[in-house]
Amino acid sequence: MSISYHGHSVIKIKTNTHTILIDPFITGNGQTDLKASEESVDVILLTHGHNDHVGDTVDLAKRNDAVVIATFELANYIESQGVKVHAMGIGGAFDFDFGKVKYTQAFHSSSFTTNEGKTIYAGMPAGILLTVGGITIYHAGDTSLFGDMKLIGERNNIDVAFLPIGDNFTMGPEDAAYAVQLLNPRIVVPIHYNTFPAIKQDPNEFKDLVKTADVQVLNAGDFVQLSHK
Ligand code: NI
Ligand code: MN
Repeated sequence: MSISYHGHSVIKIKTNTHTILIDPFITGNGQTDLKASEESVDVILLTHGHNDHVGDTVDLAKRNDAVVIATFELANYIESQGVKVHAMGIGGAFDFDFGKVKYTQAFHSSSFTTNEGKTIYAGMPAGILLTVGGITIYHAGDTSLFGDMKLIGERNNIDVAFLPIGDNFTMGPEDAAYAVQLLNPRIVVPIHYNTFPAIKQDPNEFKDLVKTADVQVLNAGDFVQLSHK
């Protein structure tokens, strides 16, 4: 199994049988190494409806006959575009053939803006716990720091946490470093920074603040090193 980072909040997980993408914002993402027209994918997981997360979801799903997993209202919208979906709600888990998915709280907002400039309500924003191949991944989505991250940390053995550090729209480096204390993951990968001027950050400053986890600062296309101590 491999887990790789592709700029902004885009994560790819490859198992022997499935390719999973989280928040596949590729077109217009100046930080990514991926090309939407060349990606093959079986499962797309979405944290929320913002366009820098939904990204190329509809085109990718149609071309690959992939299933899109999202919270209820966002799943309804994606389904209306002619895509197979599986709707979930915060606090709910489901065992899929590729692994287990659980949606968690995130403090943010969630809407989708169409090409015509129409804003569509997309329900609650979320984080995602994905357990696959014996590894538990936590993708925080876009969120502030919140106290119940402690609960998520207590209830799950998180191997890899993807945490936003960009500030402005989400946690910044200091809050994200505090989130690491609450979540207690083995490995942390900073995400959601340097894509836009408002979220410019030095990820190494975040790395310096974290004392209790293996912080892996990744460039687009880099793999998470799961075997680090
Ligand atoms: Ni957002
Ligand atoms: Mn975002």
